[in-house]
Amino acid sequence: MPAASSDRVALVTGGNRGIGLEICRGLAEAGHFVAMGSRDAAAGAEAMSELDQKIQDRLIVVQLDVTDAESARNAVAQIQTRSGRIDVLVNNAGVYLDEGVPGSSVSIDVVETTLRTNLIGALRLAQLVIPGMRERRFGRIVNTSSGYGRCDSTDSGGVLAYKLSKVALNGMTRVLAAELRGSGVLVNALDPGWVRTRMGGRSASRSPREGADTAIYLATLPPNGPTGVFFRDRRQIPW
Ligand SMILES: NC(=O)c1ccc[n+]([C@@H]2O[C@H](COP(=O)([O-])OP(=O)(O)OC[C@H]3O[C@@H](n4cnc5c(N)ncnc54)[C@H](OP(=O)(O)O)[C@@H]3O)[C@@H](O)[C@H]2O)c1
Repeated sequence: MPAASSDRVALVTGGNRGIGLEICRGLAEAGHFVAMGSRDAAAGAEAMSELDQKIQDRLIVVQLDVTDAESARNAVAQIQTRSGRIDVLVNNAGVYLDEGVPGSSVSIDVVETTLRTNLIGALRLAQLVIPGMRERRFGRIVNTSSGYGRCDSTDSGGVLAYKLSKVALNGMTRVLAAELRGSGVLVNALDPGWVRTRMGGRSASRSPREGADTAIYLATLPPNGPTGVFFRDRRQIPW
């Protein structure tokens, strides 16, 4: 269904499962029109069919592999054609491929894939949506980082690829926030905590809904909300 002009239009990457699916649900419940980015469109359609019927007409699935320039361009164009704009981008898609692997021996392929997904993918989408956000003087860009995105996370060994991707994602957040200050476009990062998803595992302390809460909060910030800030549980935390 096309968005009414008063609705906000959001794109969530990696929206088909885990934290991303809960972000889609929460934004749709908050009245947004949500494009659920899914690398595999069929997986997205299946995830959507399991959501409450009441919010299904506020959602569409768009095929979106964040490492693929053409897929990203097509996804953004499809949303813009259907809804006229993108007001909110939640960069949520991520991979965690080097758990327990020392940085001194992690494969370069793993490092490249991790950076292409967690960092370059987020930048690619941000670059696609920023021009329209600037023009309309409204935008929210939410980057799903991690506790491993904190600078001091690099003081312990291991998980080099994932840590570098999230530390750099935090750096990207600050650079874009600085460039966009005063434009109406707010750019922030968050640590969702340890969340029970395929990535976080079954022992994690938080539900996906709890993990999604701060991302939804940042996606719905009011005018003059914070920008260039790292959050956890809706509170500022140190980089
Ligand atoms: N879970 C935690 O404890 C935790 C902690 C800190 C930060 N985070 C961050 O939170 C975010 C969501 O994590 P999660 O726990 O929900 O993970 P998850 O359950 O493993 O889900 C990851 C999502 O990212 C998608 N994805 C991966 N590569 C992609 C690509 N190239 N293009 C598009 N989508 C891609 C996956 O799609 P497919 O289904 O196609 O694979 C899936 O939808 C990630 O950025 C993660 O780093 C999670």
